[in-house]
Amino acid sequence: MQSSKTSTSNHKTFLSRRAFLKTAGLSSTAIAGGLATKGAFAGNALGSAAPGKQCGFYQLPGDFVYLNSGTEGSMPECVLTNLQNNLLKWASNPTWSYELDQELGKRQELNRTQVARFLGVGKDNICLTDNTTMGLSMTIMGLNFRPNDKVITTNHEHPAMISPLQILQARQGLRLETQSFPSPALLGRMSMQELLDTLFPNTPALRGAKALCVSHVYPTSGVRLPLQALREKAEELNISYLIVDGAQAMGMIDLSSRRDSIENCDFYSCPGHKWLNGPPSTGLLYIRNADIRPPEFYPVFSQRMGKYSDCDDDHSCFPIAKALQVRGCSNTPGFAAMVRAMEFVEAEGGAAHIEKHILSLSREVKNFVLARAPSCIISPHVDTVLLSGLTTFFPFRWDRPETPLTDKKTADRVVKELLARKIQIRSIGIPNADLLKHSSEKVYALRVSTGYFNSVEQVGILKNALQEVLKGI
Ligand SMILES: Cc1ncc(COP(=O)(O)O)c(C=O)c1O
Repeated sequence: MQSSKTSTSNHKTFLSRRAFLKTAGLSSTAIAGGLATKGAFAGNALGSAAPGKQCGFYQLPGDFVYLNSGTEGSMPECVLTNLQNNLLKWASNPTWSYELDQELGKRQELNRTQVARFLGVGKDNICLTDNTTMGLSMTIMGLNFRPNDKVITTNHEHPAMISPLQILQARQGLRLETQSFPSPALLGRMSMQELLDTLFPNTPALRGAKALCVSHVYPTSGVRLPLQALREKAEELNISYLIVDGAQAMGMIDLSSRRDSIENCDFYSCPGHKWLNGPPSTGLLYIRNADIRPPEFYPVFSQRMGKYSDCDDDHSCFPIAKALQVRGCSNTPGFAAMVRAMEFVEAEGGAAHIEKHILSLSREVKNFVLARAPSCIISPHVDTVLLSGLTTFFPFRWDRPETPLTDKKTADRVVKELLARKIQIRSIGIPNADLLKHSSEKVYALRVSTGYFNSVEQVGILKNALQEVLKGI
């Protein structure tokens, strides 16, 4: 974090930039597809989340183009203030805070209610977690998988999903069916239905699996698999549980829209600390069946298994989300601040508005790559329902755009040279089905995350710098 002096000067930069953009008429720079209208999107700064109170991303230096929300988001000022105040409150009365405080106490009824309201679901469908990894582990280790149960997943899942599945594979003989994504060369041009039918064909090998374990948005390619379509697929294949890793979706995608409603999933785990711009060590697990309980599902990582010893069948059992919530001292100031980040989203115009802004910026990045080097793009760009705020593409020499450079060294070099120009993107390894059978073989690409605090102006800075760097390799 910066000194308060730098922060104040950023705040000033933000205000003067904002005033400039207002008078200069930002709308003249709006891109095709519609730049979201509420607020003026100056670098690292947005409108007010509370009446009369500015809530911008002032801790990001004004000259730093941060395009990596897919790894970690930042925090707007109102979220930081909320976190700081709650830490102070905790320090001033620790026992009260832990045992009884509405916001900070171990039971987390209030914050779970607020998160549920934000997502349009019930309080007993929500457990607050430290991160996506925790929610996925609670789910996979909690379900009563039997030896030889079949679970379908893909070769692009994050270790947060794969690791607990591997434990069950090693410990009790769970059978993993790992489906390969098409090669990057094919992926970009596919339609959603083509992709889903390629990934999950209706074959005896996949039918009747116990679970389908997939990501909502893929960190490798930026592919979004719409949740409604995934639900239809799970039903077509007669799969019992749809378990979704939402690490790259929360805060980027409107999770209450029909097409991407989390209610399509049986379990959905996501963070507060990436696109939502909440604090580190925050996340949530959505559990569709609030009445699920042992022996179908065990509350792994909880202090409340005892509540299920004399449970009858009348659905009056202790809610599983509540059981998973009580697990000792948690990051409750973080949870309260994550709720504040959700309020920020609402004050800015809602999740749909934020998704529109993020996608319009990512469209700019995609168009830039497509215009110069169409054979280097990996992210989908034809079927709009597959689009996300992540854009991945292979580096290329500016004068030889038809040849993708797929090695790690080149991708890392481009990232480093951009960082020297105060632009943060990242390189990412992608399993390549074309390279075959050695599942550890990867190709390396560049990944740009266009977050809510980013602006058209910042994407322009990236384009210029990228051109410069690619001319030098
Ligand atoms: C798809 C995916 N899943 C899980 C994770 C891990 O997220 P967390 O730090 O919230 O556990 C990441 C992190 O980048 C991710 O991209």
